[in-house]
Amino acid sequence: MVKGEKIRLDIHNTLYSIYKFNQTLNNRLINKRIKNNKKEDIAFLYNVTLTTMRFQLHTLKIINKFVKKKIKVHEMILLQSAITQIVFLDFKEYAVINCSVEIAKKLKIYHGLINAILKKIARNKISLKETKINLDDLPMWFRNKTKSLTNVEKKNFLENYNKEPDLHVVFKDKKYLNTFEKKIIKTSDISGFVEEKQDISKLRSFLLGNLWVQDFSSFFPLHILPPKYENKNFLDACSAPGGKSFQILNRNFNIDLNDISKKRIELLKSNLNRLNFKAKIMNLDFIKSNKFKKYDFIIVDSPCSSIGTIRRNPEIFFKTKGPDFKELINIQKRMLEKASLLLNNNGLILYMVCSFLKCETLDQIKNFLTNHDNFELFKISSNYRHKEHTKLIKNNYIITMPDTVSNYNIDGYFAAYLKKIK
Ligand SMILES: C[S@@+](CC[C@H](N)C(=O)[O-])C[C@H]1O[C@@H](n2cnc3c(N)ncnc32)[C@H](O)[C@@H]1O
Repeated sequence: MVKGEKIRLDIHNTLYSIYKFNQTLNNRLINKRIKNNKKEDIAFLYNVTLTTMRFQLHTLKIINKFVKKKIKVHEMILLQSAITQIVFLDFKEYAVINCSVEIAKKLKIYHGLINAILKKIARNKISLKETKINLDDLPMWFRNKTKSLTNVEKKNFLENYNKEPDLHVVFKDKKYLNTFEKKIIKTSDISGFVEEKQDISKLRSFLLGNLWVQDFSSFFPLHILPPKYENKNFLDACSAPGGKSFQILNRNFNIDLNDISKKRIELLKSNLNRLNFKAKIMNLDFIKSNKFKKYDFIIVDSPCSSIGTIRRNPEIFFKTKGPDFKELINIQKRMLEKASLLLNNNGLILYMVCSFLKCETLDQIKNFLTNHDNFELFKISSNYRHKEHTKLIKNNYIITMPDTVSNYNIDGYFAAYLKKIK
């Protein structure tokens, strides 16, 4: 076997399962492929698989330039990962081409074609690095759902969607931020970007439970909540793995945590344990269960297309199937409906999704307010003055596409506070 061939075959099979069977790149999928559990192999697989998905529209364009006939799925995926390695990751082309040809033989696809195309690509790699994506290259479902975006927003998205995400962390207390082992670019007294991206899960302060990882965009909506909710009862209806709940628990407010997924509840419990937070945990279907009591504040961090996290989850564009919007929009609507019934008078619903698509954000709120004249959009505090952060607030909504704060990448996100007025 040629050196590097086995791991590249694992990468090919991982990409194939994501493309063909709608799987997600996670530890479970990786462990299925990498039996030796070697740290370097896992890091290599993550790097090449994620970068291949991030640059898949670029590599498709390159393939179309060099191959005039229709190619099979295995050929396409093998070429995409090889082109990513040669053009966008600057790996030694000799090793990449050799391994790809050997893999092609194993997969019984036309290895002569793979060899010839990759050699041509290697000769042109400097100019190919400049390949640009335009709107027409994006998946049809995405173009259909973003018709309402302005041209500037569309251009920004194209420039930003495939950048690597940055690491934003939240500390339980400012003293922990000040004594953190790594350099932090502060976004508040208790939060900031880790200057150099790295695995922080082995750091002493992480193991001691002084902090958790949470993107700035999803941290911001609860961060600006005024500190006057001490005696209120909170419910996080879809709480796992826990970021929003930790923000509430950290303020010593009274919160119950619910999630429908047993697996995610396990993750939530292990996070709570590490952070030394305690709360009542429920494993119920928020929409269907009649076991909920009434609350003053309900967080509905609903399932959604997750398009705001495209940098973290590039498989959203790589999978053959787009999100099931009919189903997602229905779930979001029913969750809002249920929250409205469980909310005490003068209470607040915080509706959130990691999406910026109108159908999952503004349309949901507009429809909800049209059908519930006992609710109004809650005015977001004007006391918050950080200029760069307040660009996320528009007309009392928090809405952002994948963007930057202090020159660090943040996810796309949406949040709206809804107040029950009678
Ligand atoms: C966006 S995630 C929540 C993230 C979480 N709030 C956080 O900050 O870590 C959406 C969650 O909704 C849960 N979910 C989906 N349908 C649900 C339902 N009918 N009832 C309760 N939870 C549900 C999913 O299991 C998933 O954990």
